[in-house]
Amino acid sequence: MTKISSSSIEYPPGPSSILPNKLLRQFIRNPIKTLMDIAYTYDDIAHFKLGRKRHVYLLNNPNYIEDVLIRNHKNFIKSRGLQVSKRLLGEGLVTSEGEYHDRQRRIIQPAFHPNLIKKYGEIITNYTLNMCQLWQDGTTLDIHKEMIHVTAAIISKAVLGSDIKSEQGDEVGDALLTCAEYFNRLLMPFGDLIEKIPILPVNKGFQQAKRKLDSIVYNMIKEHRDNENKGTQRGDLLYTLLQAQDIEAGIGRMTDLQLRDEVMTIFLAGHETTAYALTWTLYLLSQNPTVESKLYEEVCSILDKNNGKDRIPTVEDIPKLEYTEKVFRESMRLYPPAWTIGRQVMSDYKVDKYIIPAGSIILMSQYVMHRNPRYFSDPDSFHPDRWSKQMKSNLPRFSYFPFGGGIRGCVGEPFAWIEGILLVATICYRWKMHHDPEHKVELKPLITLRPKYGMRMRLERRK
Ligand code: HEM
Repeated sequence: MTKISSSSIEYPPGPSSILPNKLLRQFIRNPIKTLMDIAYTYDDIAHFKLGRKRHVYLLNNPNYIEDVLIRNHKNFIKSRGLQVSKRLLGEGLVTSEGEYHDRQRRIIQPAFHPNLIKKYGEIITNYTLNMCQLWQDGTTLDIHKEMIHVTAAIISKAVLGSDIKSEQGDEVGDALLTCAEYFNRLLMPFGDLIEKIPILPVNKGFQQAKRKLDSIVYNMIKEHRDNENKGTQRGDLLYTLLQAQDIEAGIGRMTDLQLRDEVMTIFLAGHETTAYALTWTLYLLSQNPTVESKLYEEVCSILDKNNGKDRIPTVEDIPKLEYTEKVFRESMRLYPPAWTIGRQVMSDYKVDKYIIPAGSIILMSQYVMHRNPRYFSDPDSFHPDRWSKQMKSNLPRFSYFPFGGGIRGCVGEPFAWIEGILLVATICYRWKMHHDPEHKVELKPLITLRPKYGMRMRLERRK
C-alpha cells in the first residue's frame, strides 16, 4: 500500500478541540479516565494526538480489534509502550517480533498445552497452603504483596523448575515496581533524555533492579546447565529451552543471553498479571459478601466439607468449580490486569472508511471495552452470575479479551486459569478477608493494572 500525504488524511472523530499537549497531560495523569471519556463520546473508533507528533487511534469495536489481532496481525508491531520494556525483557517472547518471535513461540507454546500443565496443580495448591499456614487470625496484611510472593514462587517452580527463596519475594516485587515506573517515565515527554544521563537516580535505580532480577534468572539457568552436564533430565520449560534447536531453520541451541531473555519474560509475565488478577478478585469478594458466601458454599460442597472431610482442591475439581471460575472471569472483566494493548501500524491500514497511516499507534483497551454497556449490562457492578453459557455464546469475540488473542495472545492463558481458580478456591476455603476501611483503593495503570497503595486486608480464619 502506498503512503498517503498528511494533508489528504480524513481522521475519525475525536477530541480535536483539546490541545494535544493538554490531552497528553490528562493522559499521563489518568490514562484510564481519558480513554473511557473518549470511547464514551466517540464510540467505535476515535482519533487523537498525544503531544505534537503521536497520532493515536482508539478502537472500541470488537470486530476492528479482531481484524488487528487476528486477521491482519502481520501489519503491526508492538507499540512503544512495550518496546521500552526491552531494556529489561530483551528479545523475549513478549517483546520480540517477526520470524524470531514465531520461532520462539513454536518452542515455548507446547509447554503450556492444557494437558501438560495439569501436572502443575499440586505445586500451585502446595505453595498456596504454605502461604495460608503462615497467616494469623485477626491480622491485617498487604494481600497484594502476598499474591506477588506466591505467584512468583509458583511460576519459578512449576514452569522454570527452580525455587526462589521466600525473602526474594519482596525483592522481586520492589524491583518490578521500579522497572514499571521507570518505563512509564521513559514514555513521557522528554523521556528519551532520561537515559542519556546515566548518573540520574532513576537510571541507577533501574540498573539496580535489573541486576537483582538478572541474578535470580541467571541462577536458574546455571542450576539447569549444571544438571544438564550431570545428565539429569527435567520436564520443565527451562530444560526444554536449553535443549531446543530449530534444525529445519539451521538454528542451533540458544545462547545464554537468549535464554535469559525468555526466562526473564516467562518469570515476569507469568506471575505479575496473575498476582493482580488475584488481588482484585479478593478485593471484590471482600466488597460483595453475597458473592463471597456463594463461592464459599461451592468450594465446601466440591471439597465435601459438609461431610466432615477436609481436602485440597485439585485440577480435576476445576470443571466443577463453576462459580469460582465465573468470579475470576468477572474480576478480570472489571480489573483486567493487562488493561490495554497497543500496536504500531507498519503500512497504511483501513478501518471502516478511514485510512490509518503507517507509524500511527492503535490502542485497544480491555478496561474500556469490558465496561461497555452495549455488551455488559450494569457494567460497573460485580456480577459473576452474568457469565451464563448463553451469555458467553452471544458475546462478540473481542468484547472480552483479558488475554489478548491471535499469534501474540497470552501463551500462559491455560496456566493462568488453573492457577487463578485453584488459588481462589484454596484461599477462600480457609480464610475470609475484610478490606481495611482506612486503606485507600486506587488504580495505578502502568503496563499492568496495579492497586496503587497495595491491598490491606484483615484475615478471619474460617471455623
Ligand atoms: C491473569 C493472568 C494473565 C493475563 C491477564 C495475561 C495477559 C496477557 C495479554 C493481554 C497478552 C498479550 C499482549 C499483547 O498482545 O500485546 C499476554 C501475552 C503474554 N503472556 Fe500473559 N497474561 C497472564 C498470565 C500469563 C502467564 C501465567 C504466563 C506464563 C506462564 C504469561 C506469559 C505471556 C507471554 C510469554 C506473552 C507474550 C506472547 C507472545 O507475544 O507470543 N501470561 N498476556
